[in-house]
Amino acid sequence: MASDKVSIHGAWASRWVFILAATGSAVGLGNIWKFPYMTGVYGGGAFVVMYLFCIALVGVPIMLAETLIGRRGRQSPVNAMKSLAIEAGASKHWSLAALMGMVAALLILSFYSVVAGWSLDYIIGMGRGDFTGISADGAGAAFGGLTSDPWRLTLWHSLFMLVTAFVIAKGVVAGLERSLRIMMPLLFVLLLVLLGYSFTTGHFREGFDFLFHFDPSKVQDGILAAMGHAFFTLSVGVGSIMVYGAYMPKKASIGATVLTVGLLDTLVALTAGLALFPIVFAAGLEPGGGPGLMFVTLPIAFGNIAFGQVMGLIFFVLVAVAAWSSSISMLEPAVAYFVEKTGRSRAQVTAALALLCWLVGMGTVLSFNLWAEAKFFVFAEDGFHLLQWGAEGGKTFFDSIDYLTSRILLPLGGLSFAMFAGWVLSRDAVREELSIRSPLLFNLALWLIRVVAPIGVLIVFIAELSK
Ligand code: PHE
Repeated sequence: MASDKVSIHGAWASRWVFILAATGSAVGLGNIWKFPYMTGVYGGGAFVVMYLFCIALVGVPIMLAETLIGRRGRQSPVNAMKSLAIEAGASKHWSLAALMGMVAALLILSFYSVVAGWSLDYIIGMGRGDFTGISADGAGAAFGGLTSDPWRLTLWHSLFMLVTAFVIAKGVVAGLERSLRIMMPLLFVLLLVLLGYSFTTGHFREGFDFLFHFDPSKVQDGILAAMGHAFFTLSVGVGSIMVYGAYMPKKASIGATVLTVGLLDTLVALTAGLALFPIVFAAGLEPGGGPGLMFVTLPIAFGNIAFGQVMGLIFFVLVAVAAWSSSISMLEPAVAYFVEKTGRSRAQVTAALALLCWLVGMGTVLSFNLWAEAKFFVFAEDGFHLLQWGAEGGKTFFDSIDYLTSRILLPLGGLSFAMFAGWVLSRDAVREELSIRSPLLFNLALWLIRVVAPIGVLIVFIAELSK
């Protein structure tokens, strides 16, 4: 039986460690940085409602699928899918989906490391007291000062990548548990403190309405963005959860575990949104301000409350840790794969891959300053340009990588994983892995994986194309 095997890369001590690691992967910049700014860009409630739907009907079922594929395969995602496909008498080319996911994860890491680097810079700024009593304009200028300086960005990007590579090289299982057990709860506590501050701004109601007021006319604007973000925030569609599933103990119940991770992730994102928007409105900032939203808003809060300097410092340390535990899970599928394939040490493989991601990440560093006018994928009146300097439309390097991964590669990867678990693996195999006792619940889970999640992805793609 496949699930008796143990992965060569290690194993979690218990189901709780898996929950911790998977939550560590899921909770990150996606929740605290990206969710609020995307909500702002796509106009609020409609985005949030679609995001919640996508989490429940698409993201969580795909997370189930990934975990069970990983645990049954007990190898890197590519090899797990290959061997399970062969075992089931299907084409081994199913593993291409995992290969695509692996590449997507590396691309995400390339820009993730840059943004995580911003929080490192903010740790220093907070520690020095740069933000004490700061105004909205001052906070905006501070952020602009950071992103317009390629050297400063490069420094922090390099440092973050190094730290990530260091832990990966030593093995995920060893390093992660100890740090996450304390840091994750603490991060949540500080978000609650920020939420408390938001209550005092006098704009809580406005922030709340912005997040939850559902305006149907805005649905189509952000539907693909919302689904893409549901994948991103749960770390699904790339194999990160699959590789963690491969290290999961045999007896643990996948269903309950995955639900816990999904709920925690959503809770953190909503709390971050609820904490942020009242501050945005109170300071008269633009909710659609884009990627700088959190980095402009939070210093205002910390700069103007008692003990703000210390709390701000701790907060940005925790954001960096949350980002770090996510970035580890982006690198792990590829590291596991190349260790299996080449027989080289984890350290060597990690060094090579991290260097590669670092290089691609330099494109993101430059897209905020020297390359800000370099626009890719420009559809202009005189036709299509892959790269045009100073074009009106088009996307910067950072926007292009973000778009390609979240809106295209992740949903396609997730679709393939769900189809594979639902239709290629035998019903008995799925039943054995999920070990859900109640036939009703098992059928529900299987139906979500087989039908609801794939159709959900297709509907969103079609809705986007027909815009
Ligand atoms: N889920 C992480 C976050 O929200 C990002 C991530 C994406 C991690 C893909 C792993 C794989 O920050």
